[in-house]
Amino acid sequence: MTTDSDVAARAAAAFSDRYGGKPDGLWAAPGRVNLIGEHTDYNDGFVLPFALPERVVVAAARTDAGWTACSDFTTETVTFGDVEAAAPGAVTGWAAYVAGVVWALRDAGFDVPPARLAIASDVPVGAGLSSSHALECAVLTALADLGDLDLPIEDRPRLVQRSENAYVGAPTGIMDQSASLRCRAGHALFLDCRSLEVEHIPFDVAAEGLAVLVLNSNAPHSHSDGEYGARRRSCEDAARILGVPALRDVPADGLETALKQLDDAVVRRRVRHVVTEDQRVLDTVELLRSGRIREIGPLLTASHASMRDDFEITVPQVDVAVEAALMAGAYGARMTGGGFGGCVLALIDADRAEAITAAVTSAYDQHGFTAPTPLVAVPSPGATRVG
Ligand code: GLA
Repeated sequence: MTTDSDVAARAAAAFSDRYGGKPDGLWAAPGRVNLIGEHTDYNDGFVLPFALPERVVVAAARTDAGWTACSDFTTETVTFGDVEAAAPGAVTGWAAYVAGVVWALRDAGFDVPPARLAIASDVPVGAGLSSSHALECAVLTALADLGDLDLPIEDRPRLVQRSENAYVGAPTGIMDQSASLRCRAGHALFLDCRSLEVEHIPFDVAAEGLAVLVLNSNAPHSHSDGEYGARRRSCEDAARILGVPALRDVPADGLETALKQLDDAVVRRRVRHVVTEDQRVLDTVELLRSGRIREIGPLLTASHASMRDDFEITVPQVDVAVEAALMAGAYGARMTGGGFGGCVLALIDADRAEAITAAVTSAYDQHGFTAPTPLVAVPSPGATRVG
C-alpha cells in the first residue's frame, strides 16, 4: 500500500512533469468509510463516518487565467475558463469534479484564483469509499488556500455538495464531503445532517485490540446512480405523505403509526430502514461515548439486514461477505456506502484480519465471485495542507 507522502510525491512529480517548476503547495483530502447511518443523510438524519488514510493529493499553483488539471491516472490534461466554469455540465469526466468546485465557489460569490492543478490518489476508485468526493474536497481546500478565501470549515461541505449535485449531476447527500473535510484522527464524525452540527466521537479501535476491516466486494456497480435517485425519491414522497419535512422527523417510537399511513409496501420498507437506521446511529454513538466499542457489533449487523431486506441496496457479493465475516468471528459487519456493490466493513479483533479475509475469500471462491480486496481502515484526519 502507498503512504500519504508517496501520494504527495506523485502529485508534486505530476505537477513538475506537466507544467514545469514547483507547485505553490500540496493539499490532501481523504476517502471515507461510513461506520453506520446509510441513506440517512438526505433524510436530514444522522451518520457516523470516519476518514481513511487513503487520500487524494492536489499539487497546485496560481496562474494568470483559467484552470488546468491533470492527474497521474490519465494522460489527459483538461483546461477550462470562465465560460465552462459558469455552465454546469460543460466539463465532463473526471475533470467535472474540478470544474464543479470552481463553479460552486464562484456561484457562492468567491473570487476563485486561476490555477494549475495536478492530482494523485490512493483512494480505491469505484469501491464506494468516496474517491470523487475526496477529489472535490482536495480541490476546494487547495483553491480556498491559494485564493485566501474566507471560507469557514462548516460552510465547505455544502459547497462541495452543490458541485456534486448541480455541476456533476449526482443527487448525493452531505455525508461524504463532511467526512472528507471535517474528520479527525482516532475519531468518527457524528453528523446531524439537518443542523450540520458535528461531534467527534473517540473511535480508537487499535487501543482496544480491535480493527475495522474493509473488504472491497469488487462487485461491478450496475444502475447504481438510477437506484440511488429512486431511493431518494421514495423517501421524499413518503415524507410528503406523512406530512413531515423529512423522514428524520419520524421518531423510532412513532414508526408503527407512520407505517399505517403508507399504502405501498415498498415505501413502508424504505421508511422502516431510514427510521431504524437513524436510531442505530444514535445507539452506536451512545455505546462509543462510554467506550463500549465491541458492543456496537450487533448494530452494524442489524444495519446490514435493514439495507438488504428493507432498503434493498445490497448485492450477493456483499451479503456473502457479511455472512462469512460474522461466521469467522467478526463482532459485526455491514455494507458501507451507497450500495449495489462497494465495500463491507467488519469490526474484528485486530489479530483476525488475515483469518477473516481468508474466510471471505474462500466463500467468494465457492460462489465464483472475484476475490475481495482488503484494507484495514484507520480513523484518520480530514482535509489539510500537506506541503
Ligand atoms: C453515497 C452518497 C452519500 C450517502 C451514501 C449512503 O455515498 O454520496 O451522500 O447518501 O451514499 O449513505
